[in-house]
Amino acid sequence: MGKTMTEVTDLMQSHRSIRKFHDKAIDQCILKTILQSASSASTSSFLQCVSIVRVTDKHKRHKLVELTGNQAYVEQAAEFFVFCIDFRRHQQIVPDGYFGYTEQVILGSVDAALMGQNALLAAQSFGLGGVFIGGIRNNPKQVAELLALPQQTFALFGLCLGYPDQIPQQKPRLPLSVIVHENTYQDMDSETLAQYDQDIRDYYAKRTHNQKNNSWSDDIAAKLHKEARPFIQECLKAQGFMTEK
Ligand SMILES: Cc1cc2nc3c(=O)[nH]c(=O)nc-3n(C[C@H](O)[C@H](O)[C@H](O)COP(=O)(O)O)c2cc1C
Repeated sequence: MGKTMTEVTDLMQSHRSIRKFHDKAIDQCILKTILQSASSASTSSFLQCVSIVRVTDKHKRHKLVELTGNQAYVEQAAEFFVFCIDFRRHQQIVPDGYFGYTEQVILGSVDAALMGQNALLAAQSFGLGGVFIGGIRNNPKQVAELLALPQQTFALFGLCLGYPDQIPQQKPRLPLSVIVHENTYQDMDSETLAQYDQDIRDYYAKRTHNQKNNSWSDDIAAKLHKEARPFIQECLKAQGFMTEK
């Protein structure tokens, strides 16, 4: 039988988000390698429509804790990066080009996600840990002001990186039989879901902190009964996106 695991796949499958960090800086060479790994990701049509804002200013970091929904690790992490869609440089190069399309939001979001995951994985390969911060979209207008984000840019998510001061239990994912479909879409079967709900209940009951008695179905029901940032479209428009008729 061939080799079915590699160092890289081991690393990928040992992922857990880290929200507590040692007060230790990341070496500049390691940081550069992480960022170069991020920028090596595939990019739609070679557009390279992503910018990363590294936030080193202590006051801005402090403000971002509040703007992301009081997530203290945004300040405590050794590094905090904000991944942005960026068509500004393209507009500078091609001033009479087509801009403002929803499709460009998708292009930038996909490319930024690929870069973000590359950054996190590269960091994890150095023994670092991190967590993405979607909370950066809680207050897009204030974030845009704080980071001086011009038209044709939009802050999509943050990434905290640092040396882990916790080893959380891994969160079990949906089984492949649910997420991988062959040829045509298949609705999930209720028995598989019931088993997964039980697995998540067990995970929440056994984990060392923030124990709760929830299934995954309970979790997503709670999330989907709340409005998901209904102001986002307006903020994207204010930054020059989704302006087509
Ligand atoms: C785009 C994105 C945004 C996220 N935003 C936050 C966030 O604002 N705060 C947070 O604590 N975790 C955030 N997370 C982490 C998820 O909660 C976490 O990945 C998920 O619960 C699974 O846990 P695990 O990463 O430990 O396996 C985010 C993850 C992604 C992919």
